[in-house]
Amino acid sequence: MHILSTLTTDHDNIEALFKRFEATDPGDAEALGHLRDQILEQLAIHAEIEEQTLYPALRQADEDAEDDVLEALEEHHAVKAILAELERMAPTHERFRAKMQVVIENVRHHVEEEEGDDGLFALARQELKATELKEMAERAAQLRDHGPTRPHPLSPDQPPFNVLLGLPVAVMDRVVTPLRKVVEQHLLRKAS
Ligand SMILES: [Fe+2]
Ligand SMILES: [Fe+2]
Repeated sequence: MHILSTLTTDHDNIEALFKRFEATDPGDAEALGHLRDQILEQLAIHAEIEEQTLYPALRQADEDAEDDVLEALEEHHAVKAILAELERMAPTHERFRAKMQVVIENVRHHVEEEEGDDGLFALARQELKATELKEMAERAAQLRDHGPTRPHPLSPDQPPFNVLLGLPVAVMDRVVTPLRKVVEQHLLRKAS
């Protein structure tokens, strides 16, 4: 297993969640909220993996990759900012689905660029060694178990600070998310 196959599988899983979100009855707030939570978590983990492994390695391996990596980081940042709003928004809010649709469109564009013929994944295949790609997959597995699970648009997204802060942030995420879910479920039941 190497990093590009795990990241491509993430893209496919996230796209499947997007399709389910788009197909969900707009009146089913509980289902929309549940899908929002899954999308939020999957995207947070995926972005963290790319920002701690593939992106810095590409920047180091090929200075021509710099502009594309910086653009990718900006696209991650924009999506995290909207996700941070969605995390705090009730699924019954009139802007909820529209906001998620903007996330979906942005991520689809970003994934197309990453996986495209002259995108970052193609560049990684060209520039990085098989051993490096395999090591990154091992780091990705650790991040899936112990990395941040919520969007943090204001946190550092490049080494060394994202690596240093990743662990304490992840510990807090695992406290905040269950609490927020309990409060939201309570409010949804009260409203229905
Ligand atoms: Fe990305
Ligand atoms: Fe990606």
